[in-house]
Amino acid sequence: MTIASHRHLLNGLVPTEVALGSGPKFTGKTMFHNPGFFRFCLFLLILYLSLVPFSLSVAEISFNRDVLPILSDNCFKCHGPDQRTRQASLRLDLKESTLWTENPVIQPRDVGNSQLIVRIVAEDPMRVMPPPSSKLELTSEQIKTLKQWVAVGIV
Ligand code: HEC
Repeated sequence: MTIASHRHLLNGLVPTEVALGSGPKFTGKTMFHNPGFFRFCLFLLILYLSLVPFSLSVAEISFNRDVLPILSDNCFKCHGPDQRTRQASLRLDLKESTLWTENPVIQPRDVGNSQLIVRIVAEDPMRVMPPPSSKLELTSEQIKTLKQWVAVGIV
């Protein structure tokens, strides 16, 4: 496999003298010395960096990795798998269980009408979840994650 046999792949990426010949004509330049190629790499890098925050926040939210730990730390005490301590017949340990009840606490893709979100952002201490008496409190980052999870349709 020589450089010359793959010159169709190298067109525009390497200086012509490198693409056409090998041996004595090789100038020591590689495609990384080509300013066009360098700019192309830079373009890819910028494109990648600009897409990363978007993909992390929307496409890659995961119930098990991102949402479950928040719910288990802050909600399971009263809305978990243990039926004896469960409040309001609401269990949040299964993603489907948020939709099982007669009045589901989540309306997928409708953050404003999802009670789960309404209750965690409530200002009224009688309404806000987790209740202040539990000494549990969600961070704004955690609230953001839960909102995004509902906004993308509880994936
Ligand atoms: C210390 C116990 C406790 C914790 C912790 C707790 N809750 Fe609750 N939750 C309750 C009780 C009691 C009720 C029923 C009374 C009421 O609606 O305020 C309730 C009701 C709710 C409701 C309304 C249910 C319905 O059918 O309308 C939602 C939604 C809710 N909780 C979400 C959460 C979320 C989300 C968390 C965690 C971020 C959480 N709760 C943590 C005790 C708790």
